[in-house]
Amino acid sequence: MPKVEINELRQKYLEYFHAHGHQIISSSSIIPENDPTVLFTTAGMHPLVPYLLGTNHPSGKRLTDCQKCIRTSDIDEVGDASHLTFFEMLGNWSLGDYFKEDAIKFSYEFLTSEKYLGIPKEKLYFTVFAGDKDTPRDTESYNIWRSLGVSEDHLFFLPKENNFWILGSGIGPCGPDTEMFYDTGKEKCSDNCNPSCDCGKYLEIWNDVFMEYYKDENGHLDKLKQQNVDTGMGLERTIAVLNGYKSVYEASVFTKVKERLEELSNLKYEDNLQSFRIIMDHVRTSTFILADIHGITPSNIGAGYVLRRLIRRSIRHLRKLGINEDVLSDLANLYILEYKDIYEELVRNKEKVFAELQKEYNKFSRTIKDGEKLFYKAIKNVKDNTLGGEDAFKLFDTFGFPLEMTIELAKENNIKVDVEGFNNCFKEHQQKSRTIDAGTFKGGLADNSETSIKYHTLAHLLLATLQEMFGKDVYQKGCNITTERIRFDFNCDHKLTEEEKTKIENRVNEMIKSNTPVTFEEIPYEKAKEEGAHGTFENKYGEIVKVYTIGNLSKEICGGPHVKNTGELGHFKIIKEESSSAGVRRIKGILE
Ligand code: ALA
Repeated sequence: MPKVEINELRQKYLEYFHAHGHQIISSSSIIPENDPTVLFTTAGMHPLVPYLLGTNHPSGKRLTDCQKCIRTSDIDEVGDASHLTFFEMLGNWSLGDYFKEDAIKFSYEFLTSEKYLGIPKEKLYFTVFAGDKDTPRDTESYNIWRSLGVSEDHLFFLPKENNFWILGSGIGPCGPDTEMFYDTGKEKCSDNCNPSCDCGKYLEIWNDVFMEYYKDENGHLDKLKQQNVDTGMGLERTIAVLNGYKSVYEASVFTKVKERLEELSNLKYEDNLQSFRIIMDHVRTSTFILADIHGITPSNIGAGYVLRRLIRRSIRHLRKLGINEDVLSDLANLYILEYKDIYEELVRNKEKVFAELQKEYNKFSRTIKDGEKLFYKAIKNVKDNTLGGEDAFKLFDTFGFPLEMTIELAKENNIKVDVEGFNNCFKEHQQKSRTIDAGTFKGGLADNSETSIKYHTLAHLLLATLQEMFGKDVYQKGCNITTERIRFDFNCDHKLTEEEKTKIENRVNEMIKSNTPVTFEEIPYEKAKEEGAHGTFENKYGEIVKVYTIGNLSKEICGGPHVKNTGELGHFKIIKEESSSAGVRRIKGILE
């Protein structure tokens, strides 16, 4: 089987599905739109949830894409052979179009055909859902694999924990799946060795999920109104498996950064795997977050805090390799050059990426040395092999060490950290609300309740109002909706005055009371731009997009859904106005 690299696999995949009637759509933002339950897009299906639930997608019922994803739940594992915080996920979707038979046939052809991956059939193994009290055994998928010539000893029925897929939050569209594995040729670890085993003989390369259910907050399963297919192939991982790489970091996208690090440190990658890999991964993820349309910058909260952790951890590991100057932008630039043809936002926002990396480097480099000194002094006298909460807090508060970084540093020195003590200090300093709740790293789902939909329409009216007042250059820098409120960030160079806030409220309420219908059309991206539609989406030319129009008040490229008439919104009130980051103001508002 010939070697296949990232760009080639991405292209072949999209080409194959395009040739089979799928529209190629752009990757959505790495930060989910209107989904307050998660910080990052965690799977290819994440931005497509509304369409899996039944909203019509402007590009049709068959879609394919390569989605930028971030998963930070295993951030501490980065450094081993397989974990990455950023990855690309290839996927093909049927939104109420084909189901199991075609999905499996497509997958098998793409994997085995000489024209595509040409994997020898005997190297492939498959798992299907064994069934349980809620959901029947998936004999249909089993029989489809058999009809394609797959022998019985290459097929395994496995339980729910292996072959049923749902987003991390456990709420949303879901269903049984069938997974495809590659046999690495290793010896079986036992007579019972099968693809569910983690001995490393069988490695997963693709997952076809048959989404025909919806699981609600009470764990109740209902049939969806349509049968969907959601598939996911992790690009870096599949490349590593098929090429027999020792780790995902052997993929060509990492080569330049690896070589530059060797050059800068005069050390070999092979001798310093953990630090090299952490830097390679974290700088790539930080570059993609900083280049994203949402304008996330390092901070002490939410996605900004994850970004801060990624950058600061990179700086610490650079120091471990003896690199004490700021090389972050240099490394980021190598990634920008690597991905420039696929993700043009990297090029567009290059200066911002460099500036933010530099700012964060400057901030942290002022304190890291003294912080490390304090740490090494403190651990000389530790009790019970544990660094006290107060020291950990001082490292955090005075020296800017994220707690997770202190824990990692402690681990390297074989000691623990009194996390409870740290938290108590934190509470005392009343900063609890500004820190990150570990729970928000988990996957989740956009909430499509009636109330959230109203807030979503409110976001359009708010942007229109701000543009009327401050000019057309005002744009949305971020929006977060819950059923209780909207949080809306926009670029603005001053704190809003009381008069301005009242004016905004009055104008939005006037728009609401005008009972203007909300309509949408599906048109090519160029046309939407020509018509002056605003939008933070990163669409490519030629793509069909959905444009929501609210009379002559607002026109935005947006996936929806929205209310039918502004009159449904009720009364808008601003409850808070504050700074979000430099040059960005944040409005918190409610509908009463
Ligand atoms: N949504 C499925 C996954 O992420 C395909 O594995």
